[in-house]
Amino acid sequence: MDLRSKEEVFNSVSKRPKPVLVEGIPMLRATAENWDLLWGFAARPDDLLISTYPKAGTTWIQEIVDMLQQGGDPQKCARAPTHKRIPYIDLFFPKPMTSGLEDAEAMPSPRTLKTHLPVQLLPPSFWEQNCKIIYVARNAKDNAVSFFHFHHMNQGLPEPGNWDQFLEDFLAEKVIRGSWFDHVRGWWEAKEKHPILYLFYEDIKEDPAREIQKVAQFLGIELTEPVLKRIVHHTTFESMKNNPMANYSSLPSSLLDQTVSPFMRKGTVGNWKEYFTVAQSERLDEICARKLEGSGLFFRTQL
Ligand code: A3P
Repeated sequence: MDLRSKEEVFNSVSKRPKPVLVEGIPMLRATAENWDLLWGFAARPDDLLISTYPKAGTTWIQEIVDMLQQGGDPQKCARAPTHKRIPYIDLFFPKPMTSGLEDAEAMPSPRTLKTHLPVQLLPPSFWEQNCKIIYVARNAKDNAVSFFHFHHMNQGLPEPGNWDQFLEDFLAEKVIRGSWFDHVRGWWEAKEKHPILYLFYEDIKEDPAREIQKVAQFLGIELTEPVLKRIVHHTTFESMKNNPMANYSSLPSSLLDQTVSPFMRKGTVGNWKEYFTVAQSERLDEICARKLEGSGLFFRTQL
């Protein structure tokens, strides 16, 4: 589909929709309307699933994983935009555009798939097939700031209001995909029973080579030093910002308006300090301590 016809389809995406609850979790209406289809999704045993709370570094880990799977060849990773290489199973577009679910169904194995679902809403076939899962978590403060900006540039998300209003909704667990706290904790606890590699955005930022090696080991991929170096280079923030197959510039501005805020916005740890007041920061720390108590989960908010 060319960009113009895509533009027309995206114009029919409902703008600034209100969230709809699925099992108590706020979702986009299109996801809620297709819930039975999604819940019945047939995972295959050799599927790899990438799971994150929105804006935790999904696109980054997707590019890292694809580079690993393609032997560190950037040309092969340029075969299609991120969402076509790694379908986002819980995203539904109006017809005639295909949904992430349909793209996944049409894809030959082995597939790599993406989801933002909280752990309790993952289609059961992923557990039944014992699929490998990579989860990336990002500290709540930077995650919230990134989500705030993404709401402003993405017309398909609810109206975020100003920062204070958005943070209220985030803390009240009213934003799309619900509670950040429950999401990161739920997936953390699931790794006790399932093959889940749990990574942190801050760790990847601190030492990408170390974290890429962890992913390679989890996937059973042997890495040579030159390939590792190529992957590190290809997946830096600057490289990805300039990569049309990774920066979402293939989607029309009627959906993602990158002049409002680029998809590849800052790519740092600690940007939250420019948004949170001291009181907001202390409040989030207090909620975080309470919600994550006893889990062993710990987040760094600066490097
Ligand atoms: P910021 O808005 O803080 O810049 P997702 O892919 O889950 O939607 O997450 C997007 C966030 O990850 C954005 O954060 C984006 O800039 C950041 N990101 C994407 N690629 C990155 C990279 N290679 N290095 C660091 N951050 C990256």
